[in-house]
Amino acid sequence: ETDDRISRISSTIRVIPDFPKPGIMFQDITTLLLDHKAFKDTIDLFVERYKDKNINVVAGIEARGFIFGPPIALAIGAKFVPMRKPKKLPGKVISEEYSLEYGTDKMEMHVGAVEAGERALIVDDLIATGGTLNAAIRLLERVEVTVVECACVIELPELKGRDKLGDKPLFVLVSSS
Ligand code: PRP
Repeated sequence: ETDDRISRISSTIRVIPDFPKPGIMFQDITTLLLDHKAFKDTIDLFVERYKDKNINVVAGIEARGFIFGPPIALAIGAKFVPMRKPKKLPGKVISEEYSLEYGTDKMEMHVGAVEAGERALIVDDLIATGGTLNAAIRLLERVEVTVVECACVIELPELKGRDKLGDKPLFVLVSSS
């Protein structure tokens, strides 16, 4: 039954070649969101995994971690913390730089959003090179939050992003070549 759910989820993800640049096979999750059952199954699979893990922070990565993170946070009884692109958050922030599959960027988090000793799950739609999740882990660990796991809908295993996560476990629903 889990496999049926994964198959359906996988079949709803649209792949768009050469977006946003030549050579990139863009994994478009907006088509997953159009399928109510696939979207619900996606959230349910994460909730089933994380509901009894004493996670009190779901850190969602801009932009698509803001779609999948909040319903997971609500269902497992955790707070939601947005990890944002530069100059979007209005309060005092801490930031980490990272390199991306296409370009470089910075990730910011509000000071005071999390406390030392809290237990976090990091959520995003996709791991490619792993640079983004690596920056999110660094941000949370700088303020002594325990990163329990990283969760993504899609992994591109050929890019070996997993290797950038050190000892942090990564859980994904779909692997795409
Ligand atoms: C994509 C994706 C991840 C990141 C993964 O975001 O949603 O956040 O890239 O790449 P990495 O593993 O190589 O670091 P994108 O750069 O498209 O930004 P956006 O979510 O703001 O559109």
